[in-house]
Amino acid sequence: MPSTHPKLTPIVHSWIKDLTSDGSFLQHCIEQYGSPVNIHNLISFEQNYLRFKRMFHKYGVSNKVFFARKANKCKSFVYAAKEYGFGVDTTSLNEMKDCIAAGLDPEKITVTAAIKNMAILTYAVDNHIPVTLDNEDECQLLQQILEERDLTLAVGFRITGFVHKGEKLYSRFGFDLAKLPVFLRSNLKEAGSYDRLLFRGLHFHLSGYSIDQRISALSQSLDLAEQLLKHGLKTTYIDMGGGILMNYLKHGSEWVEFHETLKNSLLPHNDEITFRKDPLGLVKIDKQIYGEANVYPYYNEVNQDKFVEKIIIGQKEGFPIYHHLKRLQIELRIEPGRSLLEQCGITVAKVAFRKRDIEGRLFVGLEMSRMQLFSSSADFLLDPLFIPIEKKQEENPCEVYFVGTYCLEQELILKRKIQLPQFPQIGDLVCFVNTAGYMMHFYESEAHLIDLAKNLVVEKTHRWEVYEDSEYVTAENVR
Ligand SMILES: Cc1ncc(COP(=O)(O)O)c(C=O)c1O
Repeated sequence: MPSTHPKLTPIVHSWIKDLTSDGSFLQHCIEQYGSPVNIHNLISFEQNYLRFKRMFHKYGVSNKVFFARKANKCKSFVYAAKEYGFGVDTTSLNEMKDCIAAGLDPEKITVTAAIKNMAILTYAVDNHIPVTLDNEDECQLLQQILEERDLTLAVGFRITGFVHKGEKLYSRFGFDLAKLPVFLRSNLKEAGSYDRLLFRGLHFHLSGYSIDQRISALSQSLDLAEQLLKHGLKTTYIDMGGGILMNYLKHGSEWVEFHETLKNSLLPHNDEITFRKDPLGLVKIDKQIYGEANVYPYYNEVNQDKFVEKIIIGQKEGFPIYHHLKRLQIELRIEPGRSLLEQCGITVAKVAFRKRDIEGRLFVGLEMSRMQLFSSSADFLLDPLFIPIEKKQEENPCEVYFVGTYCLEQELILKRKIQLPQFPQIGDLVCFVNTAGYMMHFYESEAHLIDLAKNLVVEKTHRWEVYEDSEYVTAENVR
């Protein structure tokens, strides 16, 4: 029988183990910067990048890696990308400005903003930053800006409409790839309506994490590149966006057990493992459970570089994809957000209260809101680290739900019931690991006029040094 407390043991990098082993250091951070606090370290950022580079090198594939900045707002990552030699994918004017301020070569900046208004496109033109176009209105606006300045700009075109296993993959983004050749031929040529746009490459980003769908999309992008070449349009790169899986969990067996136990827990007479039997997206009809939990796949054996490797060794007409990329002299670009941030950040919060609800659950109030640990996944499925002020000699486990600052009934930091080794005290700390990718920033808000969490960067020399993100950048510490 699976236990009623399925564990989800996170992978914890040595810098996090080191930092969290000293409770007084974290207490000091909370005292100084408030709760919660987001703490970053850049070691893994470079290591993650190098994993991609080594894999591309193994296959001799010309490549560029762009960090999808939307996944974390800290400027330190932009400066680090510049230092380590990779690029940044931007989605707003401020993100673009940070890249230029960090001294990134414009060729190492991409613009995939969903809305590209006059300000964004003008800034791109004035700073020679190539942009990825999504629709004809953007082409028109960019042409107008370029005509006013008598300039040209390198552009890529985002495409959609890939066929996979006989069905079209839907995306609201991009040009229909079936219509793009005619559009480019008639508009980008000399004296065409958009003759100031210099075609350079193709771009796609698929939602979800299917390797096979990406093989299909890349194959069809290669076909499109060949077709365009016949009409004098050379594709210099194909950018396959992000969505590269990462792995958060130590044991695959725990992941399997969690899902089994979740399903069982929804049946009558079984104990809850989520708040009031929250199904996390599963559907219960009569006594049957249907569907899948709507959660990020936190356990993945094929992740990061191995995920991209599977795609480029995927077959197209009897040859691996990387062979076609080389044959056509096309650079492969990727825009990882989450997977470049693996093991780059933690979120630490302070216990404010303990209480029982009317049904007997133990609530632990944390000085943080659920929007400071939030993503599209129905729950963040990793056991947090518990850092008590005083560690009791004897373990006396208790089951708790963490609740936060917003005045909503559904204000649970984690929907999953968590087991702590001892009864928590006010002032104890809870550390959520691996939160740098999306979790800490993507949905954070200042509702109730509560200050946003401070973002720190820590670095170990002979002891841990702490910087605020903005200080770290100006101190030019990134090496
Ligand atoms: C165009 C584009 N590129 C890159 C990414 C980053 O994806 P991930 O963080 O899953 O790697 C996204 C995410 O939404 C995206 O829309």
